[in-house]
Amino acid sequence: MSRRAVLITGAGQRLGAATASRLMDEGWFVFIHVNSSLDAAQKLLEESMTRNGNGCGHVLQADLTVDSQLQRLVEDVKNHTIVAQNGLAGMVHNASFYSKSKFEETSLETYRNLNRLHMEAPYFLTQELLPELKAAEGAVVGIVDTSWGKAWEGLSHYTSSKAGLRQLMLNLAGELSPTVTVNCVAPGAIMAADWESEHFTNVLKRVPMGRSGNASDIAAAVHHLLESPHLSGQVLHIDGGWSLNDT
Ligand SMILES: NC(=O)c1ccc[n+]([C@@H]2O[C@H](COP(=O)([O-])OP(=O)(O)OC[C@H]3O[C@@H](n4cnc5c(N)ncnc54)[C@H](OP(=O)(O)O)[C@@H]3O)[C@@H](O)[C@H]2O)c1
Repeated sequence: MSRRAVLITGAGQRLGAATASRLMDEGWFVFIHVNSSLDAAQKLLEESMTRNGNGCGHVLQADLTVDSQLQRLVEDVKNHTIVAQNGLAGMVHNASFYSKSKFEETSLETYRNLNRLHMEAPYFLTQELLPELKAAEGAVVGIVDTSWGKAWEGLSHYTSSKAGLRQLMLNLAGELSPTVTVNCVAPGAIMAADWESEHFTNVLKRVPMGRSGNASDIAAAVHHLLESPHLSGQVLHIDGGWSLNDT
């Protein structure tokens, strides 16, 4: 069987890194995209090569809010031998920037950058690499969240751009069928940001499973969606049942 290649954005740290690691262990060739976490990504790749042998991935750097860097990322993926030969079997839109600020104090520039990161970059990457995705009858996964239809204080800029990504993925699930599957993973409370530990502890009180999830839970969900050719147009909540209690 030919080698399957996947691009994961924002994969140098945290949930993206766990997903990259899982997929390399499962035999995928992973393009580990980073913005600033070059050293962490290189270490992740070296550790995987120790377990799985050479040639299980490649680190690529780009600021996804900058058009010229997005274009270079596309070229780097397209021109890689494994993609030129086998196409691109997976694309995971994981890169994100999570910050809290009052609506009145959040600048238009901040909002535009989040829209670029959560919506424009996934749109552009999927569009530009569509021939390669089609060639491999590939799968696209958007990492969204559980905020859909809710009002989260101080997070309008974040939740609305994530809602845009969710809708983009669902629309593409229709448009790209039957060749390419498109799904979302919606993590609940998995790994707190530095600034939200108190809020995170309070959230966990409303999670039926009574605890946070693990990065490996997200990695397993992404792996499942990438390898399920009859699964498309779904949003898989990995949230310990949190959505049941938070209306
Ligand atoms: N953590 C949770 O519990 C949770 C809950 C709900 C949803 N999610 C979603 O799950 C995904 C992973 O979560 P996470 O907490 O691991 O994410 P994260 O740490 O907030 O962000 C992931 C990566 O995005 C990259 N990134 C940020 N700005 C970028 C830019 N301008 N250009 C390119 N890359 C950029 C960063 O790369 P560098 O480090 O290389 O700069 C960062 O490591 C995200 O989409 C997040 O919204 C997470």
